[in-house]
Amino acid sequence: MRIVVVGATGTIGSAVVRALQPKHEVVAASRSSGVNVDIREKASLERLFQAVKDIDAVTAQNAEVPIRRLRRSC
Ligand SMILES: NC(=O)c1ccc[n+]([C@@H]2O[C@H](COP(=O)([O-])OP(=O)(O)OC[C@H]3O[C@@H](n4cnc5c(N)ncnc54)[C@H](OP(=O)(O)O)[C@@H]3O)[C@@H](O)[C@H]2O)c1
Repeated sequence: MRIVVVGATGTIGSAVVRALQPKHEVVAASRSSGVNVDIREKASLERLFQAVKDIDAVTAQNAEVPIRRLRRSC
């Protein structure tokens, strides 16, 4: 399958890429990847889906927030 991994350069995304690559064609995408996308921009997403054809699946593990432990109130 041809799978677009959005957030491929990140902690989770790079692990997803490694897990998929042996069996699939991975398209690594993010703002700094060769396949460039900024998911905040509709036009950027449209360019991605125009540039990459015949996509079977998309995974998204992108974020720009710090990972924090949740506090319990009780
Ligand atoms: N790490 C953990 O332990 C953990 C645990 C549970 C859940 N999560 C969740 O998993 C997701 C990813 O976490 P992470 O730790 O892997 O984050 P990370 O290492 O900071 O990676 C974030 C990825 O998202 C991309 N990205 C950020 N903004 C983007 C945008 N506007 N458009 C396209 N790509 C964008 C970044 O690449 P560019 O900067 O090149 O765009 C990078 O590839 C988050 O939703 C997080 O809440 C993480």
